[in-house]
Amino acid sequence: MTICYLNNEFINLADAKISVMDRGFLFGDGAYELVSVYRRRFFQWSWHIERLGRSLCEIRLSVDLTPLQKAAQKLIELNDKADLSLYIQITRGAEKVRRHAFGDDIKPTVFMVAWPRPPVAEEKVLNGVSCLTMEDFRWQRGDIKSTSLLAAVLIADDTAKVGAEDTILLRDGKVTEGASSNVIIVINERLITPVADNRLLRGITYQMALAVAGDLGLATEERDITRGELAAADEIWLASSTREIMPVVELDGQAVGDGQPGAIFGRVRAAFVQLIGGNEQ
Ligand code: PDD
Repeated sequence: MTICYLNNEFINLADAKISVMDRGFLFGDGAYELVSVYRRRFFQWSWHIERLGRSLCEIRLSVDLTPLQKAAQKLIELNDKADLSLYIQITRGAEKVRRHAFGDDIKPTVFMVAWPRPPVAEEKVLNGVSCLTMEDFRWQRGDIKSTSLLAAVLIADDTAKVGAEDTILLRDGKVTEGASSNVIIVINERLITPVADNRLLRGITYQMALAVAGDLGLATEERDITRGELAAADEIWLASSTREIMPVVELDGQAVGDGQPGAIFGRVRAAFVQLIGGNEQ
């Protein structure tokens, strides 16, 4: 039995109910986070909550997030598994009528659930994964972790149909991010990431990976990445809470670098694994 948290209550997930008038259901009007839990400890809790607060602020939804940590901690204890993915979703709540504009007296719906987190497949880390590229047709506010994910869902469907890991998106000829991940490329031992503006989500994982790389003495740079640079990069990595960091060895059917996970990836991955083993909060 999976216990979830819904509006201050801990209940069986199968019994959890929300109104069909919830704007999260009707409009995808909400924001979310996915927090990794390693050995019963949240990975970068405060960063996730800060980002959730920012997303909510951007969608003009005011919610006190302070009670969440205690509730999330209890959820982890109730679900009694060492490694979990904690999903947090806050929607604007239900109104009596369906209308696009919203009132200011709605009670938000706060939902959390923790699912067992399988370890990242060793094969993907050792042998690498393949990716596609596609024009980024999502909205212009990728910086908001919104529950309106239809574009990402459709891209994920296309990606899954060809057995790829993710699709790397480009807007105006510049890399933005993966449909559900951030992208890091390596050129001459330098880690390069796209400019983190309104077009993409500032992922917690890639920020941690860049910090780890910095500690290893590797240079990092945030700038535009062209399609040509992506295709010719020595290494390409994906980064997300569920994937951690993962090497891309094939892009649109062409080998990335020498077609094997790169040496820089190996170094950063080893340090990253140490970090997730020992991270306190
Ligand atoms: N998604 N960019 C997008 C569009 C994402 O959906 C995600 C993660 C990331 C990476 O963010 P982080 O490192 O903080 O997980 C970047 C989550 C895992 C999801 O939607 O389930």
